[in-house]
Formats: sequence, structure tokens, C-alpha cells
Amino acid sequence: MNSDYGDKNPELGRLYASHVETVTARHDHALEQAGASHAVIYSGNPKVAFLDDYHHPFKANPHFVSWAPLTSLPFSYIVYTPGETPVLVYFQPRDYWHVVPGAPDGYWTGEFDIRIVHAIEDVAAHLPEDREKCIAIGEFDDEALAFGIERVNPSLAVNILHYARGAKTEYELACMRLASKRGTAGHIAAEAAFREGWPEFDIHRAYCKAVSHSDPELPYGNIVALNDHGAVLHYTDLDRTAPDTIKSFLIDAGAQVHGYASDITRTYSSGDQRFQDLIDRMEAMQLEIVDHVEAGIDYRDLHVHTHKLLAGVLVDAELASGDPNTLLESGVTATFFPHGLGHLLGIQVHDVGGFMENESGTVIDPPSGHPFLRLTRVLEEDMVLTIEPGLYVIDMLLDKLRGTPAEGHVNWSTVDWLRPYGGIRIEDDVRVLVDGRENLTRDAFAAAS
Ligand code: GLY
Ligand code: MN
Ligand code: MN
Repeated sequence: MNSDYGDKNPELGRLYASHVETVTARHDHALEQAGASHAVIYSGNPKVAFLDDYHHPFKANPHFVSWAPLTSLPFSYIVYTPGETPVLVYFQPRDYWHVVPGAPDGYWTGEFDIRIVHAIEDVAAHLPEDREKCIAIGEFDDEALAFGIERVNPSLAVNILHYARGAKTEYELACMRLASKRGTAGHIAAEAAFREGWPEFDIHRAYCKAVSHSDPELPYGNIVALNDHGAVLHYTDLDRTAPDTIKSFLIDAGAQVHGYASDITRTYSSGDQRFQDLIDRMEAMQLEIVDHVEAGIDYRDLHVHTHKLLAGVLVDAELASGDPNTLLESGVTATFFPHGLGHLLGIQVHDVGGFMENESGTVIDPPSGHPFLRLTRVLEEDMVLTIEPGLYVIDMLLDKLRGTPAEGHVNWSTVDWLRPYGGIRIEDDVRVLVDGRENLTRDAFAAAS
């Protein structure tokens, strides 16, 4: 594995202390507002499958990961008291059935008072005695794991933390640049596998090898879609055999570094120039939208603006006819582009806080007619978000236009031409600057070429 991704990366080491300072300040504020003295943040525990002794892959509490890059440390706790070094209760079971976490090591260790425990019942001794002054943050599927703390996930404190996580620290941005670099290496390998005519399953394996992730380590299930599978927005079936004729390839796949994700989509043509022209047109539109990203922009406006630009693409490609407002209002653009323009990105692929107007949790609704938009905030410096417009032939949605005034705006013979190609999506991860943007995805592709 590329050592940049490991916990000895000197750049991450340089940035980490200041990240912890920011996380500390957020918790100081959250505790003050919640009238509490200590935060106890639980990493979580693996879930057992129903009627089985098999565990689903472990997914750590993102609040825990925001403190420390420990994505594989179940049954552990961060105990934070303002003014004191945070305590990390590091659970290292005596277990000869599984690999257990090794000794704490890496750039992060200096920020914690680390207490290694070998049994769950030994955790309690490391928690503040005044449990009534604690808040606990995490998923406690067994009350005993909260050790008598009654205020679990109080919304006042949790909303403050969620809202603040929208903007990334320098350390987080460095992790996300690395996640972009890692993801683009996978995309390059996947495109080569597609050009070789490999089936979806094998393209997926080429991707995983290039990013050095097992399936559960991927930030989300890879979408590796040949031909019309590209029209299934969350297609994850991975056919084992290649279709007789390969026309197109849509891949939506990311990678992670220390728990921070990239989320990248590209679409390719096998050679058909008309489809390639449509991809090029969508890419030009996507880049135009990216160019609008900067602090102060209302993301809802950007989403609606995208629909107007898409109307122009549909007209130029002879998929539809009519002026942009008509195509927007009659639902034609939403039929071809039925998902949101993008979302916040971070520890979670759909990072929390996308709908929050303020830290108290007031919600900003998506614009009417666009219920799937996951980011409705005004953009702020150092947010990282995706810009991922799409254009698909989804018959389930197109059928709804039949018999409505919109039917006459659709050029059905061009729709028939496009159907076997599935669709197009192009997705970049973009950091908001006061006066512009940083495109993590394009930078990573450029550095790899
Ligand atoms: N890959 C999930 C998304 O693009 O939101
Ligand atoms: Mn996305
Ligand atoms: Mn995606």
C-alpha cells in the first residue's frame, strides 16, 4: 500500500494537532450549550446477523473518527473534559479467534491519554464518576455500554457537532486529497479493464486492487455499470459475464484514507462518437457548474441552475425540445436527472449537516419538486461537496410523462437511441474557497497522468 495512506504520513502528523484543537473547541461549545461537563464518545460495536454468529462489517461512529483515525477499533471510547487531555479508552480484547488491535501507533497517539483495556468491564474505571454530568455520543445497542450515562446523543450537542463538521480542517482536507488520489488510481485501473472488455465483476476487482481496499473498506458499494445498467442509479449487481456488445461504462466509486472518503463518477463510451459527444457535452456542463462553487452560493440555486443547463443539453442532443423553463417546470429535466446535484462529503459519503440552517438544527427544505437534494445550505469556506449531474434513460420515470403536456417535449426516437447506453454521470469532489474552489478529483487525475 502507498505509505502516504498510512499513519506515519508526516504531513498528516504536522496537521493533526491543530485538527484536534478544532475538534476540542467544537466539543467545548457543545458541552457548554448542553450544560454538561464531559463528552463520552463511543466507537461502536459490530452488529451480529439475525439468528447467526456472523458479524456485519464494523462501521465506526463518525464522531469517534473525527477525533482519531481509528476506523477499526470497536468497544472503545474517547472521554473529553474541557481543559484536559482527551482520554482514549483503547479496547484490546484478549481474543484468540480474531486479529485484535495492535499497540497504539502513529501520528495521532500524542494527542491522547491512552488507557488500554482488555475487558469491557474495565472501561468504567476510566469514565468520569459524575455520570450525570456526562453526555454520551454513539450508537449504544446495549444500555450497559453507556455505563450509566443517561444523556445519550442529546440533540442540542449533536446538532452543534454536525453543523460544524460541514467545514473541514486542514488535516481533513489532506486526508481527502489522499482519498481522491487513491480513488483516481482505481478509476484509471477500472477504465483500462473496461477497455479490455472485462465484465463488471472483474472491473470491480481491478478497482479494489488498485485502491487496496476490500469491499467493506470501500466508502460505499462500487457502482460498476456496463451499458443500460448505468441507468440504475445505485446499481451494485456486478455481472460476472460481459455483455455481447459493450457500449458504455459508468463507474461511481470512491476510496478512503483515515476514514475520509472520495466519491467519484466517470462515464465512458466504447467508441460510439455520438455517445462520446454527449459525454463531452455533459462534462462541459459539469465543469461549468463546478465553476460556480464558492462561499456564499446557495446550493439549492446551483441545483436548479443545473436543471436549466441540462435543458440546453437535452435540446442540443435532440432528446427534448422547448425552452429551459418549460422543460424544468414540466418535469422533463427531472425525468432525465432525478437525483440531487450533490452532497457534503467527509467521514460519511453523505456527510451529516447538509440540511442544517444553523447549529440548532433548523432544517432547510429542498426546492419544491427536487426532494432528493441532500445539500440545501449556503456554501461556506472549506466545505467539501460533490458536483454530480446526470442524464439517464429511466423508463419508469419516462412513462410518467406519457399523456401529460411534457410528452410532446420529449424526442422519443432519440431516447430509444440512448437507452442501451444507460446514462451519464460525472462527479467531482470540490472544496469551497472564499473566492473560488479546489477540485480534489480533477487535481488527482491531473497528478496521475
Ligand atoms: N456514490 C454515491 C453518491 O454519489 O452519492
Ligand atoms: Mn456522490
Ligand atoms: Mn458517487
